[in-house]
Amino acid sequence: MRLAAFFSVAVAVAAINTTQDPFEQWRGPEAGHVRGPCPFLNTFANHGFLPRSGKYITQKDLADGLFNAVHFDANISHFLFGFAVGTNPEPNSTWFSLDHLSRHNVLEHDASLSRVDAYVGHADVFNQQAFDETRSYWGDVVNVESGTASIISRMRTCKAANPKYSLSELGEGFILGETAAFISILGDAQSITVDKKLVEYLFQNERLPTKLGWKRSSTPFTTDLLLGNLDKVRLEYNKQLKSTLQRKRSGGFHLNGMVHHWR
Ligand code: HEM
Repeated sequence: MRLAAFFSVAVAVAAINTTQDPFEQWRGPEAGHVRGPCPFLNTFANHGFLPRSGKYITQKDLADGLFNAVHFDANISHFLFGFAVGTNPEPNSTWFSLDHLSRHNVLEHDASLSRVDAYVGHADVFNQQAFDETRSYWGDVVNVESGTASIISRMRTCKAANPKYSLSELGEGFILGETAAFISILGDAQSITVDKKLVEYLFQNERLPTKLGWKRSSTPFTTDLLLGNLDKVRLEYNKQLKSTLQRKRSGGFHLNGMVHHWR
C-alpha cells in the first residue's frame, strides 16, 4: 500500500515537472499576441521563454529568454537587443515587440529564406513556397555550402519578382548571420552543420525540435562564435557569387544589381 502511494506521488511529481518544463510548454499565439519575421524569436515566445504576448520585450527578458532557450551568453543577447530596440518606432525606448522587427528595411530585409518580400506580401509570415525553394538546396545536413546556395537562390528569385528589390549592407550581413545562427543553434556550432529535419521542424512549426531529439547546448553561444561562423558563411557566399558572376560573363544567368562585397 505504502509502495503504491509512493509511486503515485512520484508519477504526479514527474508529471508536474514535465508540464512545467518550458521546452514542453508550447502554445501558439492567442488573440492580441504579436509575432514577427524571426522564426526563432517567435518560437521562444511560443514556449514562454520570451513574453507569450510577443510585446514589451526588455533587455533582461531577451537575455534570460535566449539563455534559457539556447544558452546565449549575456554579451550576445545585449548585442542583438541593441539592433532589436532600434526597430521600436518610439525613440529611446527600452523594449521592443516582435512585430516591430517587421518594419521593412530597418532590420527586415528582402530575400528571406521563409518569407516573401514586403513588396509581394506579408514579410513577417512563414511562406511554404519560399521555404520549399530554400530547402531544395539542402541535403540531409545543412552546412555552409548548401546554406549559402539557398541564400543566393532566394536572392535571385526575389530580385526577379520584386521591382523594388533592395538589400542594404546591414541586410546582407543579417542574411549571412541568420544562416550562421540557425545552423549553430540547432546543430553543431564547431563543424557548422545541422540535421535538415530540425531546421524544417522549427521553421514550419515555430517550435523547438525537442521531439526530434534536439537539446539546448551545454556550451554557451557567444558573439565571437556567431561572428566567426558568419565570416565562414560570408567567405562561401563571396565564392559562390564570384562563380555565378563568372558564369554570367560567359553567358549564364543574371545577378545584376545584387549587392556583393569581396572581403
Ligand atoms: C537564437 C537566436 C536567433 C536565431 C537562431 C535567429 C535566426 C533567424 C533566421 C534563420 C532568420 C531568417 C528567417 C528567414 O529568412 O526566413 C531570422 C530572421 C530575423 N531575425 Fe532572428 N534569430 C535569432 C534571434 C534574433 C534576435 C535576438 C533578433 C533581434 C534583433 C532577431 C531579428 C531577426 C529579424 C529582424 C529577422 C527578419 C529578417 C528577414 O528575414 O527579413 N533574431 N532570424
